[in-house]
Amino acid sequence: MPPDNGKSDKDKRKIGNIKKILVFMHPYKMQLLGLFALTALLSIIAMFPPLVTRTLVDDVFTQGKRNLFFGMGCLMVGIPLVSTVCGFIQSLSIAYLGQRFVFDIRCALYRHYLSLSLRFFSKHSVGKLLYRLMGDSGTVQSMLTGQSVGIISDLVVSTFAIVATFAINWRLAILLVLIVAVFVINYNVTIKAIIRASRSQRSAYDRMSGGVQNRLVANMAVKTFGAEGRENETFKVQSDASLYYGKQLGIAGNTFSMNVNLIQALGRSLIYFLGCSMILNETMTYGDVTAFTSYAMQLLGPAVRFSQLISQLQQVSIATERLFEIFDEKPEVVNDPDPIIKPIKGEVDFKHVQFYYEEGKPVINDFSIHVEPGQTVALIGPTGCGKSTILNLLLRFYDITGGELLIDGVNIKKLELHAFRKQFGIVLQESLLFSVSIRENIRFSRPTATNEEIEAAAKVAEIHDFIMTLDKGYDTLVGDFGVELSVGQKQRINIARAICANPAILIMDEATSSLDSDSEQAIQKAMDRVLVGRTSFVVAHRLSTIKNSDQIILLDKGVIQEQGTHDQLMAIPNGRYHDLYTKHMGKGVIEE
Ligand SMILES: Nc1ncnc2c1ncn2[C@@H]1O[C@H](COP(=O)(O)OP(=O)(O)OP(=O)(O)O)[C@@H](O)[C@H]1O
Ligand SMILES: [Mg+2]
Repeated sequence: MPPDNGKSDKDKRKIGNIKKILVFMHPYKMQLLGLFALTALLSIIAMFPPLVTRTLVDDVFTQGKRNLFFGMGCLMVGIPLVSTVCGFIQSLSIAYLGQRFVFDIRCALYRHYLSLSLRFFSKHSVGKLLYRLMGDSGTVQSMLTGQSVGIISDLVVSTFAIVATFAINWRLAILLVLIVAVFVINYNVTIKAIIRASRSQRSAYDRMSGGVQNRLVANMAVKTFGAEGRENETFKVQSDASLYYGKQLGIAGNTFSMNVNLIQALGRSLIYFLGCSMILNETMTYGDVTAFTSYAMQLLGPAVRFSQLISQLQQVSIATERLFEIFDEKPEVVNDPDPIIKPIKGEVDFKHVQFYYEEGKPVINDFSIHVEPGQTVALIGPTGCGKSTILNLLLRFYDITGGELLIDGVNIKKLELHAFRKQFGIVLQESLLFSVSIRENIRFSRPTATNEEIEAAAKVAEIHDFIMTLDKGYDTLVGDFGVELSVGQKQRINIARAICANPAILIMDEATSSLDSDSEQAIQKAMDRVLVGRTSFVVAHRLSTIKNSDQIILLDKGVIQEQGTHDQLMAIPNGRYHDLYTKHMGKGVIEE
């Protein structure tokens, strides 16, 4: 039947995920075995005190076997000593193994993130990916180390307690099993309400924190539009939901705990009362009753934990599933099995290239250009026409869906990805800076660059003089906890980084749009000198920036409309470039 198949598939996937997560524990299997053995030993040691009490009461005090007194005294001192030392080693091992385990998962996940293609990152929010890296891996860790130890300990304790109680008095032991059953019933009745309230509360928190994050980031807009009052109300409404579910959770959780305490207290009294009546009937000794009651209490602890374990396992299973949803993502752009590594000269051929992000929605159509090494190509056209997409294809952030893309006459898919991309310098409209020093930010494109080379790049980007005015110069930290830079200053550091890469091909996607036209022209002139012999692709809205390009490509809806040098395009009567240029006299932007 289909529903069953669906369910079994889901179960299989869950088991598959647990198996996969166990792979991460493999390197620590000996330590884990040692930890489990220690836990079992500790649990066994913990079972002795009731026996000692029973021997003291029945044999030493009642029957006068004084020779046992000293031995029992030694055990009463020795057991806590040994269990404290073993317990200390156990806790340290749990902490160490847990940290190692979550460290390994996080490293593997981060490595995996870095291997994934751009499309993956446009599909998932940063917050979500961060939560998987930090939150979900933490949940899995707590289960596989802390709780697995708890399970082993509980298993040993409860097995021992059941055997011991049946050995002491089987009738009373059956009563004990019935009390445990009441625990389980209480759990089953109340847990659903707890899970429901806790899930709803978590989604309310998700909505609340999502909203707050969004609003804090966009706080300038909130202030600009004087929307503080409205935002306050929205926050209250969102908080209201979490408050409501919080109350529900409180009621459900406290009902569960109250029942547990009640069953435990009544159960103990009942066992004790019946035990005492058996003493009166002389079917049990007082020592038997004290030992039995202690074991009964030791059994009820694991009974409560076991009943909670199911919901915890559920959470781990959800967290594992969320982790493997990411681990199972395959990089879309992959290396050829036998890739070519070679320096690029900079010849680029797009041959009838087709591309879509989503099937059925073509973004680039029959795009063909030939670029000689060292040429500058300008891409212009209205917003959304596919300029950045062409650059994404050139960097092989996405694979083309039709046609051919050749670099130095070699199919781009044959070139080794990392070695290939390293030969690009790239500056985008939005500057990308890391929270490290200015020097490290520039050096990011080429870790072997010397300080002189970094300064030379900064001079070309016209940011050296500004850096020298900072107290710590090139060692000034940028971003969080560091110096606040203007948009233009950030962009110049990005340009310095691209120059420092000493790239064969330079890509500038509206790199200088955030600069005023004087600075733009100054940088442009300096770059013209540096970029001699390098192929460059430039997207710019100011036509003056791209006037001297070797090729100007005018795109519209992913199709080339006009193509040529400035003079060639200006020569087309009523041509679109001609119109645009005349309209803005070379100073304006493409669209208004
Ligand atoms: N990751 C993506 N997934 C789906 N569609 C996308 C993606 N990126 C861009 N697009 C779509 O592809 C088209 C071309 O986008 P592209 O970013 O190349 O335009 P552009 O010419 O660079 O525009 P602008 O001048 O505004 O930067 C647009 O219609 C855009 O909506
Ligand atoms: Mg763009």
